[in-house]
Amino acid sequence: MPDAKAPNTAALAEPQRAARVAGADPDVPRHVAIIMDGNGRWAAARGLPRVEGHRRGVEALRRTVRAAGEMGIQCLTIFSFSSENWQRPISEVRDLMGLLRRFIRNDLAELHGNNVRVRIIGERADLDPEISSLLEEAEQLTRRNDGLLLVVAFNYGARDEIARAARRVAEEVARGTLKPQDVTADTLGRYLDAPDIGDPDLIIRTSGEQRLSNFLLWQAAYSELVFSPVYWPDFDRAVLQQAIDEYRRRERRFGGLAAKTGS
Ligand code: FPP
Repeated sequence: MPDAKAPNTAALAEPQRAARVAGADPDVPRHVAIIMDGNGRWAAARGLPRVEGHRRGVEALRRTVRAAGEMGIQCLTIFSFSSENWQRPISEVRDLMGLLRRFIRNDLAELHGNNVRVRIIGERADLDPEISSLLEEAEQLTRRNDGLLLVVAFNYGARDEIARAARRVAEEVARGTLKPQDVTADTLGRYLDAPDIGDPDLIIRTSGEQRLSNFLLWQAAYSELVFSPVYWPDFDRAVLQQAIDEYRRRERRFGGLAAKTGS
């Protein structure tokens, strides 16, 4: 009987195939992505300012990165700042930028020491030059590490990512280096921000909200979605394990037949 968690990889695009083949233990998702939600509500429930929720959110992030590496997850993508988050009050945007700066300054050496490789997805144009160079530094310093891959979605919106990819495809077509009839889903996928990273197996959203909010819309085509009621600052290894247990109970079919009904 075919194993539903180990589909025929011949039918998959190269990054997906590499991802599936490389995953040693099919019960541990190779790539987990997290929408870290609920910092503000965590703080409000305690009569604290929102920034305190974000600060505690950074602590939860540190715990989660550590736990993910120990559990054998190969890639962890986090939604740290969306392209829509600029609409928040300027003071909150400033607080979030300050936390990101501090996170990179304080934690980069430790992440590097723990063999974590950092990659960034999202629109880099027009970012504050100091933030841009910190992001660049994190990627450059850790580029040869082969432990956990930590993908930070910063100034990221999935529709924006897809539109930027489509623009680059259109430019190639206009230059004559790509034929319109050769533009397939695989082609477009290669112009996304990190085409070499396989799609997330599991996407977790905390705080009880049940939507993707413009996160990894292309890559989430076959991801399992798990929604946790826990506010992000309370997230820890046990909650991550619960989400993985839920993932393990799911049967992934990738558009094929269920193992129990297929022949
Ligand atoms: C959602 O909570 C969280 C965010 C908008 C940002 C997540 C940021 C962090 C965990 C800290 C900074 C990250 C890094 C990498 C340093 P919310 O404010 O939307 O919560 P609410 O829905 O309860 O208001």
